[in-house]
Amino acid sequence: MTQGLPDTLAAAARALAATPLTALFARDASRVASLTFAAAGLTVDLSKQRVTPEALALLVAHAETAGIPHWIEAMLAGERINLSENRSVLHTALRREDGAPVVVDGRDVMPDVRATRARIAALATSLRDGTRRGATGAPIRHVIAIGIGGSDLGPRLCVDALANPASPPPVPVRFVSNVDPDELDRALAGCDPATTLAIVESKTFTTQETLANASALRAWLRAAMPGADTRGHFIGVTANVDAAKSFGVDADAILPMWDWVGGRYSLWSAVGLPIAIACGPAAFDALLAGAAALDAHFATAPLARNLPALMGLCDWFNVRAYGAQQRLVVPYARALSLLPSYLQQLTMESNGKSVTRDGAPVDGATEASLWGGAGTDGQHAYFQWLHQGTHPVPVEFVVAVDAAHDATAGAGERQSLLVANALAQAQALMQGRDGDAAHRCPGNRPSTVVMMPRVDARHLGALIALWEHRTFVEGCLYGINSFDQFGVELGKSLAQPIAAALTTGAALPAATDASTRALVAHVLASRSVIPAKAGIQS
Ligand code: F6P
Repeated sequence: MTQGLPDTLAAAARALAATPLTALFARDASRVASLTFAAAGLTVDLSKQRVTPEALALLVAHAETAGIPHWIEAMLAGERINLSENRSVLHTALRREDGAPVVVDGRDVMPDVRATRARIAALATSLRDGTRRGATGAPIRHVIAIGIGGSDLGPRLCVDALANPASPPPVPVRFVSNVDPDELDRALAGCDPATTLAIVESKTFTTQETLANASALRAWLRAAMPGADTRGHFIGVTANVDAAKSFGVDADAILPMWDWVGGRYSLWSAVGLPIAIACGPAAFDALLAGAAALDAHFATAPLARNLPALMGLCDWFNVRAYGAQQRLVVPYARALSLLPSYLQQLTMESNGKSVTRDGAPVDGATEASLWGGAGTDGQHAYFQWLHQGTHPVPVEFVVAVDAAHDATAGAGERQSLLVANALAQAQALMQGRDGDAAHRCPGNRPSTVVMMPRVDARHLGALIALWEHRTFVEGCLYGINSFDQFGVELGKSLAQPIAAALTTGAALPAATDASTRALVAHVLASRSVIPAKAGIQS
């Protein structure tokens, strides 16, 4: 523990680790006020984290030394801070509202950003009002969004979070990411090919799962409408326009992505088209406005009150000072059920690394794993482990004060019950309970409470932007580049020869290990559905 911490912070951490959280409250009557922060409509209570105002001041001083203000400025100014890929990192430009230019390679990118936002709104409107028609002239009734990772998780989260059961979208959007055939089958259930449109979302337009699913959907359309021109049933969102055209998307149905927007930061780009379709262009605008409000705070608030900086510092301190290897995010809002999945990619693909920007080994641990799920369901599953297990894990409770919708009788009472449970769990984790061995809860387990007024587009945008910036701050503290993801390449390349072995019977490469060979042989010998391409058995 305390590896990679400066001496002052290591000493503070040792003292804090020896002090129960309840004692920190007893010692400082103004603790809650000093450790509660707000930005863009979000209020964050850090008082149950293992910090004090003094420790936070030391952390802020460390952030200054680590150059966090410089990195924030460099990112927002479009400097090429993604060094390994020599790219700018400008997802914030996608939601900028101040009319200021954002220059990349001597060119203001904002006119393209604004033009794309106008196209998103126009396309969404044409689908929602039924003017967009398929090959037979019938209005489109279903949209299938095909993408994976950053080209799926953000829009999937937002569409689910902003759904209003009392007012279903005129054109529902279903998401397909997994290459498991079951996923596409489920998405297409009840859809009529003549009234179904696909959005193929892929920055590279080379991602195997996305292309396999898009090809399968194209075959489904062609089989149902032989001889018809089905190209109008596709919209592409990509930085690889040529590949999208070769696939069969009309040039004027391709919306751009730019190399200065990373995949997991791309929901604000045309990747967010499914949000504009399902929730309406105004909701998409509000989402971007909420994120822009948080961006303005991140850019201007002093570090001592800068919410993403303070939360990134606490995350980093939990890893480096207290050895946290995991963290939990538990939204007490059904609407945010998908938030942990979204955050897994954001945090773990960004900071799951062990070399610095210069390629040297990082001195100390990096990003904790992240998992979680909606409360109160989790209370009846893994919370037992949180309260009495042997792996104390920092928990983040995300609480919506008001219900998203209150269509059914007694919604206010049930919402109160929901919020009460969130607050009680945070209290229980900290206070614990005395009693005999079986009933005793040790307590002294840290948590954060994030309050939002309700899950609406504006506050959701702010919440996501908060996580983006806090992840960036954390990456800077580790000294790593949060914007590449070379680790995912190895598995992708190894899958190719195995897929060839399973589909065409090709021989496995000589370097294939014995376990993988045996598992491939098992599949070949025991499967009941043989791919059309399969011939020879290896
Ligand atoms: O998982 C690796 C990854 O490259 C992600 O970073 C990205 O969001 C996802 O694959 C999808 O990539 P693409 O948008 O190019 O299909």
